[in-house]
Amino acid sequence: MMNKKEILLQIENSVKVCKKCRLCDLANNAVPGEGNIDSEIAFIGEAPGAEEDRQGRPFVGRAGKLLEVLLKEIGYKRENVWIGNIIKHRPPENRDPLPDEVMACAPYLTLQLRAIKPKMIVTLGRYAMYYFDKDGKISRDRGIGKMIGENFIFPVYHPAAALRNPSMMQDFRSDFLKIPSVLTSLKTPTNSSQNLAGSVDGQIGLEI
Ligand code: URA
Repeated sequence: MMNKKEILLQIENSVKVCKKCRLCDLANNAVPGEGNIDSEIAFIGEAPGAEEDRQGRPFVGRAGKLLEVLLKEIGYKRENVWIGNIIKHRPPENRDPLPDEVMACAPYLTLQLRAIKPKMIVTLGRYAMYYFDKDGKISRDRGIGKMIGENFIFPVYHPAAALRNPSMMQDFRSDFLKIPSVLTSLKTPTNSSQNLAGSVDGQIGLEI
C-alpha cells in the first residue's frame, strides 16, 4: 500500500505528463500544487496565471503575495498549508477554463484532497467555490463554512479580485481572519464536521 506522500507524488507525476486536454500544449509548466501534505487547511484557487506557469508553482504571483501576507496575519507560512488549483495548466490569456478542461482536470484535485484530508478547504474565488458548491454564490456565501459531501468548504474572494477592488479587499481580509476560529470550532466535539454534516443546513456562521 502506498503512503500519503507516495500517492501525492504519483498524482503530481501524472499531472506533469497529462495530455487530457489542450491546455498542456499551451502552457510552459504544469502546476500540480504544493505544501504541507498533513495540513489541516487546503487553499484552492482556479488555475495558474503567468508567473505560476513560469515557475510550476501555485500562487507565486501578485495574488500569491497577498495570500502570503494574510497567511502571516493568521500565524501561518505558505509551507505550513497546502495550496493547489482546480486546473493544473494555465489557460491562455488567463481565460476561464472550458467545461471539458475542468472535467479532464478535476479528478486530480479530488484525489489530492482525498489523500491530504484537510479539515477545511478554503476556496479562493467564485470559480473554486463553484467546483464544490454548484448552488453557491460567492457574494452571499463568502466567510461561511459549509459541509459539502465529504469536504468542509470555507469560501473567500479570490486574492486577485481583492487586489482590484478595495471593498472586496476588506471582505477578503475579514473572512480570512476567521479561518483560525472556524478551524478550532471544527475540532471541538459539538461542532465537528461530522455533526455539521448531519445538521439541518450543514452551515456554521460564526459571530466573530
Ligand atoms: N490564481 C489562481 O487561481 N491560482 C494561482 O495559482 C494563481 C493565481
